Amino acid sequence: MATTGSLLALLTLLALTFTTAVKFRHSAIISHLRDTSERDVIPLPANNNSPVTVNIDLSLIKILDVDQERNEIEVLVLQSVNYNNPALAWDITKEGFHSSSVAVSSWNLWRPDITIYNAVSRPEFVGYPLTVVDSNGAVFFIPKVRVRVWCDLQDVDSGSGANCSLKFGSWTQSGQTLSLSNGENGISMEWYLATPNYEVLATSATKHSKAYECCPDEAYEDLEFSFIVRKQGQPV
Ligand SMILES: *[C@@H]1O[C@H](CO)[C@@H](O)[C@H](O)[C@H]1NC(C)=O
Repeated sequence: MATTGSLLALLTLLALTFTTAVKFRHSAIISHLRDTSERDVIPLPANNNSPVTVNIDLSLIKILDVDQERNEIEVLVLQSVNYNNPALAWDITKEGFHSSSVAVSSWNLWRPDITIYNAVSRPEFVGYPLTVVDSNGAVFFIPKVRVRVWCDLQDVDSGSGANCSLKFGSWTQSGQTLSLSNGENGISMEWYLATPNYEVLATSATKHSKAYECCPDEAYEDLEFSFIVRKQGQPV
């Protein structure tokens, strides 16, 4: 009994020490986010019937593999997915809330079910995908992703090159609930790492909205990020 008692006392003491030790400067904000957010609840704007807008930006980092026989190209991209959830906002003038943003592992934040439609394998997160939340309720999920997609590579060794794309869209939500945007940003080449065998000639991004026969009122949106890739040294 005595042993159990002292063990309990020791554990309590440890727990107290631990609690004190982890009182980092963001803990009030983290607690607030933990209490407010729910991962399965779509943060629709409160006062009207508009959808939540999800911004997707894409940086092409590297062309990893070009497989002409299988019509597959593998790329490394930096994907930035951003939306607003005003319920998460905090007042930075309040005691304990002085930071304008925090980075969290995504335990219970809603993450849009954005899928790469033309992927032929499961996209792989390279590195550790963190989520950043700003004091105004803006949420940014910025994973580096390695993905293999289908692409018609017939012209990759011609002067014009092959037009490959990554097509992003929600797996389950129509445009009435989840709307996509790229803010005219296209594909960023800021962090592009060149390879000796292939070059990227041009990039673009286009948004589509498509209704299926079943449900003509429900259009599904996608963002198509395209890039023209060509084998180096082609006669132009
Ligand atoms: C590549 O394909 C995309 C999507 O079909 C299209 O929007 C874009 O204009 C094409 N680019 C070129 C240079 O043909």
